[in-house]
Order: sequence, then structure tokens, then C-alpha cells
Amino acid sequence: MTDLTSFNLMEQGTLECPFPAYRALREQAPVYRIPQTGFFIVTRYDLVMEAVRNTEVFSSQINQAASGGGPGAYPEVVELYRKEGLLFASTLISADPPLHTRYRNLVNRAFTAGRVRGMQGYIQQIVDELIDDFIGKGEVEFVAEFAIKLPIYIIADQLGVPRSDMQKFKDWSDASVPIGLNIGLEAELARARLVIEFQRYFLERMEERRADPKDDILSDLVNARLEEDGNPEGRPLNGAELLSIIQQLLVAGNETTTNAFAAGMVLLLENPDQLALLKGGDDKLMRTFCEEVLRLESPVAGLFRVTTRDTVLGGHEIPAGSLVNLRWAAANRDDKVFAEPDALDVCRRNAGAQIAFGVGVHFCVGAMLAREEMFLGFRTLLRRLANIRLADGHEKLEYHPNFILRGLKQLRLTFDRAEVSQAAE
Ligand code: HEM
Repeated sequence: MTDLTSFNLMEQGTLECPFPAYRALREQAPVYRIPQTGFFIVTRYDLVMEAVRNTEVFSSQINQAASGGGPGAYPEVVELYRKEGLLFASTLISADPPLHTRYRNLVNRAFTAGRVRGMQGYIQQIVDELIDDFIGKGEVEFVAEFAIKLPIYIIADQLGVPRSDMQKFKDWSDASVPIGLNIGLEAELARARLVIEFQRYFLERMEERRADPKDDILSDLVNARLEEDGNPEGRPLNGAELLSIIQQLLVAGNETTTNAFAAGMVLLLENPDQLALLKGGDDKLMRTFCEEVLRLESPVAGLFRVTTRDTVLGGHEIPAGSLVNLRWAAANRDDKVFAEPDALDVCRRNAGAQIAFGVGVHFCVGAMLAREEMFLGFRTLLRRLANIRLADGHEKLEYHPNFILRGLKQLRLTFDRAEVSQAAE
């Protein structure tokens, strides 16, 4: 039996490969108070489901750290935000029903299954263009040259902002994610400056859309009306609400999908038998592969809730006001739900039961879009590249030191050009 005090979930070594720790927790303490932090972590599938569905007790009104106002924020950071007039509102991911439902109704339409199906040709074109850019070289740094660019181009296009600002979006998006670790004052200040820059940029773009609406999400949002009690017409969103929603679309819409691509590529390299099955070209297997990547690597490893009252989960007492991390990544390898949970199985029948997109009212707005990007991306990569392998000297894989988002820093690959038929191209 693994001694639970023998690992520290916040340490880089455990973050790189947390799965044995998750197993030990599921078996011995599925609701566990992490000694180094004081917050709880829930690792069993049934208990994560129970908590996430109970939004009255497990509240989402906690994710304020991204704006510097969260618990434990440095006074210098709070002061900087105050001086610069940071706008902050709790929407979507940090709101509970019924307010959450009102915001959610405004963004649900953006990426429905039907709308995403209509985007297939457009996504395919970006995938092909990105591959065109590196296929002649026989090598690629896959994270920078494909996995980052694809989702960020798509979300930039959908929001209606130029792709040439990609580096800014990436920096802002990275800055907006609370990484759940203590990174120090200077780094926090640098993050705060980027968040302020992000807000200025989008406030300007929103003014432009008010004056001259276009066919994009920014225009939809500035013209949207939020339901209000006693006001059947609703009211326009204010600047803080607009920024909060845009920030979430931008952050959630790129880093997560980037990490799913890098993780999926590593799984392919580690599982040549499964790769061979996928090379057969069966789209159904490819869709299952995408679910398996999400299940096994869960790019959003876990998200926080705060308890609104004393409660009991799985027989464990949790006091009111506790932070609770619902660990999708651990639940997704629960052997009570998934047979041989650590194995990649592109024929797994219940792969779709994975909960990497969350569950219930906060279920990921972009799930359909992310799935389509992954499906078209991996299908095309396997059609056009052959003999993909880790580049010599780059076999060691390093993950970002982040408790919330699991992602590789780099992935250097070499490959041959596949002999593809014209039709497949
Ligand atoms: C592989 C890619 C992705 C993963 C793993 C992922 C994961 C998640 C998870 C776990 C949640 C639940 C949050 C909670 O319960 O507190 C969530 C919510 C959300 N996601 Fe995603 N996401 C992905 C891609 C995207 C994309 C592409 C977009 C936008 C275009 C997006 C936008 C959002 C938004 C706005 C929310 C908040 C929804 C709400 O609170 O109602 N995500 N995502």
C-alpha cells in the first residue's frame, strides 16, 4: 500500500506523473485534505460526480485568483489592479445558478454541435495549412508549430480579432490561468500587468464592434442582453462581464486544446499497436481515440469548488468554506468505471464516459469545438505524416509546473512524409 505522506501533489515530480498518487488516493482516501495546502481533493469518479452536480453545496464562486483578488493575493498585486482600474465580474465558470444560467444562455449558441459541424471545412483548412508549413522539414516542435497555433487561430477568428495578435493572446491567456502554485511576487506582478493589457485591448475592440458590428462573437456579446428579474427586455452586459466572458473563451479555448494535442501525440508514440489501428482510417476509432486522450491526460486536471456549508461526501466530513479540488484526471482513471484504466484503447466502448470537460451546468462550452479540432487534427496528421518519432536528444518530456492544467512544454518530433492519395489530401 502506498503511504499517502510519501508524495506531495504540488511537487514537480508528482505533477509530471501523478497517476500512482491518484490511484493511492482513490483507494485509501478518495476525499483527502492535502496536508501541504489545506484544501481537499476528490479522486473517485462517483464522488466527483456527486459533488459537481450539487452546485448548492459545492459552489463555483471561487475562481477569483485570475483577477488577483483571490485569497492569498499579494497586496502589491491588489494595489496594481486597483490603480489600473481592473474590471472584474464573476460570470460562467465562477458563477452559480441561477445567475450562471443567464450568462450561459448567451454563449451556448456559439459552439453547438450543428455550428461546429458547419466549421469542419474551415478547421480542416487551418490544419492543412499548419502542416504545410512544416512538412517539408521532416521535423517539428509540435507544441509551438501546431498544438498552440490551431486552437488560438480558431478562437481568434471566432472572436473576431486578428491572428497576427496571436502572441499577445497566448501571453494573456497564460497570465490568466491561476496555476495553483506559489510563483512569487515578481511573477504575479508580471501576470497582473498582462491581464491589464488584455483588458485594455478588448475594451477597445468592443468599442469598435459597438460602432461597427461584424459577424463574430465579440459583436454578438456587445449586442447581447442579459435576462434580469423584473426586466423582460434584459440589459446589455457591462465591460467587466464582457471581459470576463471573453477571457474565459480565450483561455479555455486554447491552452486546453493545445495540451490535448501534445498529450495525444505522445500517447500515439507510446502505443504503436493503437496507432496501427488508427492508420486503418476508421473515423469511429479516431473519435474514440480523442475521448481516450481526454480521459487519460485530462488537460484540465481538476477545478475548485468552495463548500457553502458543512457537508459529507463519501462519508468524509468537509467543513463550510473549504476549497475542494474535483480531480477529473483521477476520476477518469477509476477502475470502477474504466476497465484497465491506464491503457489507451481506441476500441473502448465507454470512452465517452470520460469527464475531462466537466459535468453538469458548467460542462465545457467548447467541448464540441475541441473534439472537432482534435478529430480533424489527428486524422490529418496521421494521413500526412508517417514514422513519427521523438527527435534524437529530445526524449525527455517536461511538463509545465501547474496543478490545474496538465501540459507539455515542448515536443520535438521527426517524421517522414506519408504517401497520401490525392483524395485523402
Ligand atoms: C480539450 C479541450 C478542453 C478541455 C479539456 C476543457 C475542459 C473544461 C472543463 C473541465 C470545464 C468545466 C469547468 C467547471 O466545472 O468548473 C470547462 C468549462 C468551460 N470551457 Fe472548456 N475545455 C476545453 C476546450 C474549450 C474550448 C475550445 C472552449 C471555447 C471555445 C472552452 C470554453 C469553456 C468555457 C467558457 C467554460 C465555462 C463554462 C461554464 O462555467 O459554464 N473550453 N472546460
